[in-house]
Amino acid sequence: DKGEYRHYMLKEIYEQPKVIKATMEGRITATRVLEQALGTDAENLLENVRHVQIIACGTSYHAGMVARYWIEDLAGVPCSVEVASEFRYRKHVIQPDTLFLCISQSGETADTLAALRQAKKAGFRAALAICNVPGSSLVRESDLVIMTQAGPEIGVASTKAFTTQLTALLIFTLALARHNGLNAEREADIVKAIHLLPGQVNDVLALDGEIEEMSKAFMDKNHSLFLGRGSQYPVAMEGALKLKEISYIHAEAYPAGELKHGPLALVDSEMPVVTVAPNNDLVEKLKSNLEEVRARGGELFVFADKAADVKPEEGLHVMQIPSVHEITAPIVYTVPLQLLSYHVAVLKGTDVDQPRNLAKSVTVE
Ligand code: F6R
Repeated sequence: DKGEYRHYMLKEIYEQPKVIKATMEGRITATRVLEQALGTDAENLLENVRHVQIIACGTSYHAGMVARYWIEDLAGVPCSVEVASEFRYRKHVIQPDTLFLCISQSGETADTLAALRQAKKAGFRAALAICNVPGSSLVRESDLVIMTQAGPEIGVASTKAFTTQLTALLIFTLALARHNGLNAEREADIVKAIHLLPGQVNDVLALDGEIEEMSKAFMDKNHSLFLGRGSQYPVAMEGALKLKEISYIHAEAYPAGELKHGPLALVDSEMPVVTVAPNNDLVEKLKSNLEEVRARGGELFVFADKAADVKPEEGLHVMQIPSVHEITAPIVYTVPLQLLSYHVAVLKGTDVDQPRNLAKSVTVE
């Protein structure tokens, strides 16, 4: 039931504070991750993991891309991420003591399951699933399961599944990191930041009206560019995917530093450029990227931390996002991009919940 909402997608975007909270519940205390809550075998299976191989498709793949930044940063464990359809059809090497991590909302995505089944033959330490559907094939075939508590996701464009996947992945990363020397102080710092997420996502939802206003600038455009650096690069990828899926506007995501290596040639006044820029050590670099775009007449839409001091100017629209912890920032910054795509699609009159040519669960190749 959509209730008061016009579309399931909007309802699901607004459910995020609640479902993110549900996904952390019982898995963290005020300052620590409860490893037992990830499974009775978790402690044993996470000990001696030397490599993490993440496999997923679409939005779930973007969650995996964010997780790679976390896993290498916090746990210091090498991590590879690949889309399932590529992994399963190439000759791949699985390193010793690999944790094989599949991420899937439905748990029935054919390519992801095929990759898992193949990898089982090659051998790995353990298979971990991050999944939203209890009893799904993925859940049944994995050694360790962290359920996202998003509840049924009806809109084809994934929203609350993604942010709950990220929440689960961050909690998992902290558990893995504890086996690899993460100190209690840093763990507490990040766990406290996780507790702040529902409130922060609520604060971003309060920007809905402003984002709706901003969406008008995209209505008659055919192309757009999304930029991000570090763990916000996959957030830019996810933002671009949402826009193309439901508004049918061509959207491409680039790591901001790649701009000058090609895509800058495309930038003109017909190419809006969306940038996610939290206040971290990359923001200064990002600012110079923004100058490159503006110098070419490109119109910029920047979602920036209040503290990052990006000032609006002619051709530079700034949406101020409340200050958040650098580690949890990808979760918070996903939300304004979801709202942006949603409003552009509504303005264009597309079928938001059932975009053309797409199915909710891709159980065939
Ligand atoms: C995007 C979207 C798809 C899915 C992909 C994987 O909004 O919904 O890209 O993310 O088909 O599906 P799951 O996560 O069910 O394996």
